[in-house]
Amino acid sequence: MTNSYSDLIHQTFEFPQEGFQIKNGYLEFHDIPLREIIEEYGTPLRISYLPNISRKIELAKKWFSDAIQKNGYDARHHYCYCTKSSHFRFVMDKVLSMDEVHLETSSAFDIDIIRHLSRAGQIKRSTRIICNGFKTREYLAKVSTVINNGYPFILPVLDNVDELSYYEKHIQLPVCNIGVRVATEEEPNFQFYTSRLGISRSKILDFYKEKIHTNPKFKLRMLHFFVDKGIRDSIHYWNEFKKAVTTYCQLKKICPELNSLNIGGGLPIRNSLGFEFDYSYMVDQIVSNIKQACDENQLPVPNIYTEFGSFTVGESGAVIFSVIGKKQQNDAELWYMIDNSIMNTLPDVWGIDQRFILLPINKWDRPYNRVNIGGITCDNSDYYNSEAHVSQLFLPKLSQGEKEPLFLGFFHTGAYQESIAGHGGIQHCLIPYPKHVLVDRSPNGKIDHSLLFDQQSSSRMLSLLGY
Ligand SMILES: Cc1ncc(COP(=O)(O)O)c(C=O)c1O
Repeated sequence: MTNSYSDLIHQTFEFPQEGFQIKNGYLEFHDIPLREIIEEYGTPLRISYLPNISRKIELAKKWFSDAIQKNGYDARHHYCYCTKSSHFRFVMDKVLSMDEVHLETSSAFDIDIIRHLSRAGQIKRSTRIICNGFKTREYLAKVSTVINNGYPFILPVLDNVDELSYYEKHIQLPVCNIGVRVATEEEPNFQFYTSRLGISRSKILDFYKEKIHTNPKFKLRMLHFFVDKGIRDSIHYWNEFKKAVTTYCQLKKICPELNSLNIGGGLPIRNSLGFEFDYSYMVDQIVSNIKQACDENQLPVPNIYTEFGSFTVGESGAVIFSVIGKKQQNDAELWYMIDNSIMNTLPDVWGIDQRFILLPINKWDRPYNRVNIGGITCDNSDYYNSEAHVSQLFLPKLSQGEKEPLFLGFFHTGAYQESIAGHGGIQHCLIPYPKHVLVDRSPNGKIDHSLLFDQQSSSRMLSLLGY
């Protein structure tokens, strides 16, 4: 029985596995030599590996086109990228460089991004823009302006019944396409029963009959739903899915122009080396269940829209820290202190107990010990000490006076973390925001990297604070 960290990983998981391998004693992420990157840029460090974005889009589009073909499904799938999962320009550039990828927006400023990209020629007139979310007056006004300017494929999705009266007053075109979002029910153990997002299922049919059907200005084209816990092969998911498809069929019977079902986001990403999810099976089930319901009701099948956010960008991101200190607080509790904050850089860990793939970059030949990782803010909650597959954390043992620190990588962190953390803003305990490195591949396969943002400086943070 051997007991190095490397043995532990090889005994617990299939390893090496997609995206992760050891070369010359150091971890590589999609062949990126992390050791060189760390030597060049130092830590703490965010990395965005752009080829993972295009790969994910291609994969999901293929699963849908295969399922559509297999099931003889007579309508199309439209892949939308949900911009809120990462608004960075480099992400949008990559997404929009792909064929037939559409966008989903969530707020007024999102529409400014759309206008900006449109002026830059990156948004084609065939790109569909699905405007979701609760609309402030500013958001409503911006959506209406884009519609009035004659952009053909923008579709506001009504989050509540009042939204329609704004469009009624402000949209100057004779006909406007719209969608509606039906609220789903939360899991039984959640804090509330029905999601606040969307219009309750019991009201949607009457709302359509009374306010949309009677108004020649509006054509209802899309029904949207989103199950907050994501697309899982679980009883809860399939219940909510079936309810939404039933609502679609009920609406379609009285609204012939309805032609699209938007199933939202929520396709999961790998958050552990032990992660298993049969994507193509799940997509096939989604497509075949919609078809079956439509066949039973003798209705044509709808176009399927998806709005995958985490799935598009999540696996492109990584955050790397150095362990800068070790604290044995009692017989059982050993802390590895890192050179930044978990709370500030990976707020989902703190906010929703999100787990990511965590691996050391070096020292895989050492014995391992159970540890807690501590961030350097003074906050008790700034820690990480369990993994998705097991409620504890093991990392290589450290001895005194080592020349090279232990480097830790949190992987698949590319979605939501920067926007929730407030990239470049004021940080807890004024711990500066890490630098950010972009990694791409040139056409000949060579890995290129460059610094996108330097680590936040004291003067920038102080100026935000009014000094
Ligand atoms: C309406 C809607 N669509 C898409 C998404 C994206 O979800 P995910 O990032 O899990 O794919 C969200 C996330 O909150 C959402 O609210």
